[in-house]
Amino acid sequence: MAVGRLENKVAVITGGASGIGKACALRFAEEGAEIVISDIGATRLEEAAQEIRNTTNGRVAWVEADVCFAEQIEDLMQQAINEFGHIDVVVAAAGVSGANYVSGAENESLDHQLIDQPLENWNRVLQINLTGVMLTNKYAARHMIANGNPGSIVNIASTAARVALPGAVDYCVSKAGVAMLTNAFAMEMLEHNIRVNAIGPGFIETPMTQGLQDDAEGAEMMVAMTPMGRLGTPLEMANCALYLACDESSYTTGSTLYPNGAMFIS
Ligand SMILES: NC(=O)c1ccc[n+]([C@@H]2O[C@H](COP(=O)([O-])OP(=O)(O)OC[C@H]3O[C@@H](n4cnc5c(N)ncnc54)[C@H](O)[C@@H]3O)[C@@H](O)[C@H]2O)c1
Repeated sequence: MAVGRLENKVAVITGGASGIGKACALRFAEEGAEIVISDIGATRLEEAAQEIRNTTNGRVAWVEADVCFAEQIEDLMQQAINEFGHIDVVVAAAGVSGANYVSGAENESLDHQLIDQPLENWNRVLQINLTGVMLTNKYAARHMIANGNPGSIVNIASTAARVALPGAVDYCVSKAGVAMLTNAFAMEMLEHNIRVNAIGPGFIETPMTQGLQDDAEGAEMMVAMTPMGRLGTPLEMANCALYLACDESSYTTGSTLYPNGAMFIS
């Protein structure tokens, strides 16, 4: 399904070695984009890059960078410029469900009560999920402005920005922060023709929900909260991100789209 909606565009995607970020990289490459995926873990990155090359024949580079560190994100954007010459699209997908979450590992379900939570755990979730997205937006936008090219930034928030989940206060607050970061930064970027939007997924089939999927109660809870009666797929999220990334959404900025199987309707 290659129709070239991102032909001649360069997309930088954090969290690109797994789940929603990797699905965006694959889908955007199908649409003609040159891709830079970033994440933690060189082996995972190389494997994901190879998978995208094999599937799409696209040009894919990878840069290892931890979104917690400004200098690493600055370097990521510079390396993308060095490799492909410009940055047109950014997806900020790197994230964790809790301070001890490790993507792809066996994780406990979302259940860390605020009242018992060490401050460093709270800080870690906010650092990755909110400050990491801010840094990604900031350093990408600097290059877009310097190159004088309009761009599109897509942040991955969550339905948890608007639905309170007990046991995951840090996560909910970080995602509500991403939604407001998207609104406010979009206003700042209007004069530069840079659009800033977000998607707020419901429960999606990725390593992040694997612990819940494997637990009978957790699986039942996710389906019960979702009127469509199933989890979403990474591809469905990538298609939403694609709409916001490409010119078809040219009149949309500062918006968060919630692909969540009708969770707000019930
Ligand atoms: N899966 C869901 O149900 C769901 C729902 C709503 C929102 N989200 C959000 O979608 C995004 C992607 O999550 P996913 O579900 O694909 O999970 P995932 O674990 O498959 O992907 C998250 C990626 O972020 C990377 N990451 C974590 N910490 C990082 C750091 N400090 N620096 C750089 N990279 C880091 C991980 O290594 C991993 O590859 C996250 O922001 C998540 O909060 C997921």
